[in-house]
Amino acid sequence: MSVSPDIDALTAEILSSPKYRRLDLPPGTVQDLLRRELAAGRTAREALKAARAKLHTIVAPYLGDPDYADAARQLDAAFGADSTEALQQVCQTLLASHASTRERLPHLPKFYQAIFEVTSTPHILLDLACGLNPLALPWMGLPSGIQYHAYDLHAPRVRLINHFLSGYGLPASAHQQDILLEAPRQPADVAFFFKEAHRFEQRRRGCNRDFWQALNVDWLVVTLPGESLSGRHEKRDQQRRLVARTLTGLPWQVTEFEIGGEMVFCIDRRAGGGA
Ligand SMILES: C[S@@+](CC[C@H](N)C(=O)[O-])C[C@H]1O[C@@H](n2cnc3c(N)ncnc32)[C@H](O)[C@@H]1O
Repeated sequence: MSVSPDIDALTAEILSSPKYRRLDLPPGTVQDLLRRELAAGRTAREALKAARAKLHTIVAPYLGDPDYADAARQLDAAFGADSTEALQQVCQTLLASHASTRERLPHLPKFYQAIFEVTSTPHILLDLACGLNPLALPWMGLPSGIQYHAYDLHAPRVRLINHFLSGYGLPASAHQQDILLEAPRQPADVAFFFKEAHRFEQRRRGCNRDFWQALNVDWLVVTLPGESLSGRHEKRDQQRRLVARTLTGLPWQVTEFEIGGEMVFCIDRRAGGGA
């Protein structure tokens, strides 16, 4: 008689490892990874190994992190100084600590201007799998009453973003949530989904389609890197295929452009098919 693997014990084994224990990741994410590997016929040890590999791609520690406690102190000092320049200086340093936002730094604020020229300036904005991107708010040109809802599964990042939003005078509306397992239903004018759709495909091939359809937003702005992290591999055709495959048969219009090697797909979901 085969004994079914104890998913909770395997989950605890992964989450208590030195690599992940400070991140307070949602256990549901790891349980989902393990269940899918086990359902594919792997043994408990094989599932553990495969789930660890997928979690590495999801959390992507190689993209970089600030020292979160120090980052909060730097933000407090900048808010205390009541100086836009000081705040922008700190935000720039923090944005530079993660590869996704570092690559965007030379193009602030042009990057957001170009997006909002297509979508119009939002009043309610979602930042999905946000990383440190909300720290670019001082360059986004958004109205003071903006409702900014950010989502990430990395708890120290979510805490830092809430710390920043409160100091910036906005509600602390960053949520720790696995958005693939629980797609945000918050209605919004625009949702950012930057530099993550290709990793979603690595986690579960084809999952972007249901995810993009589940959102309750007028515009979905997906960005993807035009090249690999090392700059050695051209990715543009592959990324366009990902977007085209995901949107097959949907009536949504896409406006594509590129800024600083980041491919931007502004997807207008208002024509039929929206949630
Ligand atoms: C490559 S970074 C991109 C960050 C940001 N979107 C940007 O481009 O500046 C990916 C981020 O997505 C988060 N993430 C990955 N999978 C997620 C999921 N299923 N739900 C919520 N956040 C997720 C990671 O924790 C990480 O902070």
